[in-house]
Amino acid sequence: MKKLAILLSGRGSNFQAIADAVAAGRIHNAEIGIVISNRPEARGLEIARERGLPAVCIPSQGLSREAHDRMVVDQLRKLEVDLVCLAGYMRLLSPLFISAFPHAILNIHPSLLPSFPGLNAQRQALEHGVKITGCTVHFVNEALDAGPIILQAAVPVKDDDTEETLSQRILREEHRIYPEAVDIVLSGRYRIDGRRVIFD
Ligand code: GAR
Repeated sequence: MKKLAILLSGRGSNFQAIADAVAAGRIHNAEIGIVISNRPEARGLEIARERGLPAVCIPSQGLSREAHDRMVVDQLRKLEVDLVCLAGYMRLLSPLFISAFPHAILNIHPSLLPSFPGLNAQRQALEHGVKITGCTVHFVNEALDAGPIILQAAVPVKDDDTEETLSQRILREEHRIYPEAVDIVLSGRYRIDGRRVIFD
């Protein structure tokens, strides 16, 4: 049985999609070992508790990035976590964190990377005027939103889209591809060749 950790800062809808997939067996042979938020008010924490999943807050406020990451990594190591899924975790990870889990940290980002990294990706896409955007699941490395790409989904931008309507349309695809990517990575049915993730 593989053990997942979910790190989040807010709403937690991607976490829910992963938890649903684990419960339905679409993510095979896995359990969610812990849900960690850096913000005490994160709705995702409440959802985890409602589902009977272990959930803790490790507040980041007032701590250096390294000090906070060390606390999170200690917790993950203690639980012998196999894969860390960032799900709306609005923090950059320090090299300390990344080297503790080589090729074992995933992130979902609401754009077709390398377009529109960073915050407010959906707004960036609207402002740039692209006709197609989407979402990306990728391995996390030292650079922001830049690790090897596992899955992407394209989403059309409509003329009358607002940031909200576009975000909603992208979110539906996020909920589809994130669990699929987690299952692929846990199964080991891939290899990494440079920047490319090749499926077996
Ligand atoms: C999602 O749209 C996710 O792609 C985005 O935050 C949202 C979290 O929603 N992540 C980033 O922008 C990371 N740079 P959720 O809490 O409902 O999963």
